[in-house]
Amino acid sequence: MSFPIERPRRLRRGDTMRRLVRETKLTADDLVQPLFVVPGSGVRTEISSLKGQYHLSADEAAKEAVRIHEAGVPAIILFGIPEHKDASGSSAWAEDGEVQQATRLIKQAVPELLVMTDVCLCEYTDHGHCGILHGETVDNDPTLELLGRTAVSHAQAGADIVAPSDMMDGRVGAIRDALDDAGYDDIAILSYAVKYASAYYGPFRDAAGSAPQFGDRRGYQMDPANVLEAMREAELDLIEGADMIMVKPGVAYLDVLTKVKETFGRITAAYQVSGEYAMIEAAAEKGWIDRERIILETLLSFKRAGADFILTYHATEVAEWLE
Ligand code: PBG
Ligand code: ZN
Repeated sequence: MSFPIERPRRLRRGDTMRRLVRETKLTADDLVQPLFVVPGSGVRTEISSLKGQYHLSADEAAKEAVRIHEAGVPAIILFGIPEHKDASGSSAWAEDGEVQQATRLIKQAVPELLVMTDVCLCEYTDHGHCGILHGETVDNDPTLELLGRTAVSHAQAGADIVAPSDMMDGRVGAIRDALDDAGYDDIAILSYAVKYASAYYGPFRDAAGSAPQFGDRRGYQMDPANVLEAMREAELDLIEGADMIMVKPGVAYLDVLTKVKETFGRITAAYQVSGEYAMIEAAAEKGWIDRERIILETLLSFKRAGADFILTYHATEVAEWLE
C-alpha cells in the first residue's frame, strides 16, 4: 500500500459523483422574496439603493407575486412605505395601509403564496425609531400594544405569518396574545429574534425612508460583539411563542446562525440584508466578481450553516435559475 491511503479526490471525480455526495442543497423552497409596497396604483419604481428591486403599489405587488409564485418561491415578506408618518406610526395598523392592501390583493391573486409581513414601526414613525418615544428613548411597554395592533391588522388582511423586527422586549408574547384575542390563533410568528445593530441595513433604510432622525438603534438592536445574548434572545422569543426564529444580518453572523440552530433545533431563518445585496451588485457591476456564482455560493453558505430558509433580494431570480 502506498501513501496516501485515503484520497478525498476520489469523491470529486466528475459532476455525477459530486452530485451523489453533496451534503447541502439550495432549492427555490428555501427562499423568501422581500417586497416594498408604496401608496398609489400602477407604481413600479426602481429603488436606487437596491438596484433591481422596486417600490411597488399594491396592484403591481400582486402582479409581481404571480411571477414570484411561478418561479417556485414559497413566500414573500412585505415592507410598507406609508404616505403619512407620525410620532406613533399609526399608519402601521391602518386598515387601508399599504401592507394591508397589498396583502389582500396578493392573497386574491395567488392564494398559495405565503405572505409574511414585517411588523415594526420605524417605517411609519416620523422620528424613524422602531417604537414610540419617551424623551429620546424608545418606550418598550407602550410600544407592545401598537405592535400587537399592527400584527392583527396584517392578519385581518390575510397575512399567513407576521414577522416582528422591532427588538422590543416581550413583543412576541404581546403579539401572540393580540392575535389569539382577535381569533387569529393559526397565524404564525417568525420572530427576528437575533437582530444586530448593523451597518448592513443602510440601503434598506434609504429604500424605506426609515433611518432614525436622531441617535441610532443600539438601545434595542443587539451589539455585534455578543453571542450569549443572542442565545438568550432566541430562547425568550421561543418561550413567548415564536413559531420560527431568525438571525439577521446574514454572512457576517453565520456563526450565530449555526449556534442558534444547533442549540434550539427550531425552524431558523437567515436574512441576507440590503447591504449584503448591494455589495454583491456593486462588485458585479464593476466586473470584479462572477455575479451568479457569488450569489449561489453565498446562499448555499446559509444552508450549510443551518438556515431552514433565507430572506434574500435575489430570491426570485435564483429560483428561476434553479428551475
Ligand atoms: C425594520 C427592518 C429593517 C430591516 C428589516 N426590518 C431595518 C432596520 O432595522 O433598520 C432591514 C432589512 C435589510 O437591510 O434588508 N426594523
Ligand atoms: Zn424597525
